Amino acid sequence: MGANGSARLERLPAGGLVCVVGARPNFMKVAPILRALAVADPPFPVSLVHTGQHYGPDMQEAFFHQLGLPQPDIDLEVGSASHAAQTGEIMTRFEEVVDAVAPEAVLVVGDVNSTLACSLVAAKKGVAVTHVEAGLRSGDRAMPEEINRVLTDQLATLHFTTETGARDHLLREGIDPDGIHFVGNVMIDSLLHHRDTAVAAGETLERYLPPEATEIPTEGFALVTLHRPSNVDDPEVLRELVETLEQVSERLPLVFPVHPRTRGALEAVGWPRGRRHPVMVLPPVGYLEMLGLMAGSRLVLTDSGGMQEETTALGIPCITLRENTERPVTLEQGTNTLTGTDRRRILETVDDVLATGGKGGRVPELWDGRAGERIADVLADWAPLTPW
Ligand code: UD1
Repeated sequence: MGANGSARLERLPAGGLVCVVGARPNFMKVAPILRALAVADPPFPVSLVHTGQHYGPDMQEAFFHQLGLPQPDIDLEVGSASHAAQTGEIMTRFEEVVDAVAPEAVLVVGDVNSTLACSLVAAKKGVAVTHVEAGLRSGDRAMPEEINRVLTDQLATLHFTTETGARDHLLREGIDPDGIHFVGNVMIDSLLHHRDTAVAAGETLERYLPPEATEIPTEGFALVTLHRPSNVDDPEVLRELVETLEQVSERLPLVFPVHPRTRGALEAVGWPRGRRHPVMVLPPVGYLEMLGLMAGSRLVLTDSGGMQEETTALGIPCITLRENTERPVTLEQGTNTLTGTDRRRILETVDDVLATGGKGGRVPELWDGRAGERIADVLADWAPLTPW
């Protein structure tokens, strides 16, 4: 942490709850919690720490601004590095925060490296940890997020879950049932809160339309996102996937906002090749733009965790380019279909969605926009936190 960060540490409220954000999918989860905590009864001190795992105008600033998140009290500015280096750096810098603030509890969300790193620091300092989005399991330890989920849940004493099956996973792993609360989905709180102010898909497409492009795909498009290491880090896997996407684009135009991790990987395999296929490649877009693109698409092809849930809430068909999901409720009740990366399965599913509109779906229990309030209610009565 720089000198500036250290000076700001001294101004933080002592004790209370430190909420942590680190990467893009954390921002929309913490925003509704902070809104609800601002009116918690009884009130207690709350501060916001950003680890800086994601940074810059596209991956951080647009999200803080659009979600109405307060500026973080501290930005640890860790940036990008290998898993070990990033996790270690977050731990070293977050330890300074814990030492200075002496929080009564730390709140972490999701499954990114920042989630685990801050949980580890807090737990080892004897500070209570609460985990929002606890108990999700893909069963796939090759995913870094799965390791982050399992370990964070072991370190936490209070667990907030988004779907009913999560409780079973936690119980199987020896978690105390008294600390498990099924509260619904804070990501869907954000979606419902901002849905009416989402940027219309046509507006985003017009803004990014390359000068040489002929027309905006107003007749319908498929939205694509890819960033899982298992899909983008291996050139063979990525090449096969983009060739499949080219075949999908013969059926309907694709709109593809590209994650920074994926950008380099695509360049390495020489894609997109020429302009033979109607694929609009965009930089990472903001939250309100993404909501509008999802809502305006005929279907979504993705390996994102959050978008499986958001498409289920929006009723948009989702084809998940993974072999497994930690969010099975989106398969059982929502609009999600798992295809893995098999070309034939992907194309058949796309054809089916285009022919039939895809499987119907319903919005899972408690995905009603009030999860943040339920969390704040539980926290207001949680023993480690003392009121102002
Ligand atoms: C991280 C999360 C993943 C989440 C994803 C959402 C972990 C293990 N992974 O993956 O669960 O789904 O965020 O985006 O925590 N980069 C930038 N700018 C940024 C951030 C990253 O250019 O603001 C580039 C860097 O080259 C970096 C790479 O993206 O090395 C990967 O970033 P990193 O935070 O390590 O993981 P993500 O792939 O973003």
